Amino acid sequence: MFLTFEGVDSSGKTTQAAILVEFLRARGDAPVHFIREPGGTAISERLREILLDRSNLELSELTELFLFSASRAQLVSQVIVPALARGEIVVCDRFADSTTAYQGYGRGLDLEAVRRINGVATAGTEPDLTVLVDITVGEIEARKNAAGGAKDRMESAGREFYERVRRGYLAIAREHPERFVVIDGIRGVNDIAQDIRRAVEQRYGQPHREEK
Ligand code: TMP
Repeated sequence: MFLTFEGVDSSGKTTQAAILVEFLRARGDAPVHFIREPGGTAISERLREILLDRSNLELSELTELFLFSASRAQLVSQVIVPALARGEIVVCDRFADSTTAYQGYGRGLDLEAVRRINGVATAGTEPDLTVLVDITVGEIEARKNAAGGAKDRMESAGREFYERVRRGYLAIAREHPERFVVIDGIRGVNDIAQDIRRAVEQRYGQPHREEK
């Protein structure tokens, strides 16, 4: 079973992914891999450093697209495909929908080109379920201000960028209702976690047993 979490920065998706992983591990159906993008392998983590480094001002939008995709190609071949082949559970904090939302809708790169590059980088591997934790752009700003600290290269993009990314995510979710669950992220952590757990159980109540 392959589950992905998506959402704009500060949406709380990483917290929610961790809570779900804890729940799935406690259930003990199958080993659970918890990985993040960009990252999850030594090579992908190095690409992440380049992508998020605020001093890399000259990084072009196309290079950004290819580096996120390169990181993903490595993660898919080294971790995701082998784990799924063994019948294990993979929970990934971000996946190809991030590239469609951020580089496609956010940066304005050609959506058809992004779709094709995503298909190559993932070798056609698609999540069984994608949880989109949706928050407003006003909420992103409030959370970032409350948290303080320096913004990374991606987070330094402005409000309009995040409006486009959020709209992009909602458009992708509408295009793929069979795999997306859209969760209102402006609520208490426990309420959100409960909704996500319910969605996973509704769709894949006994995931490991289906594969035996
Ligand atoms: P994170 O904050 O969830 O760890 O993600 C790192 C940043 O990279 C975040 O701002 C979203 C961005 N990103 C993209 O722009 N495209 C992608 O394909 C991925 C995976 C992340």
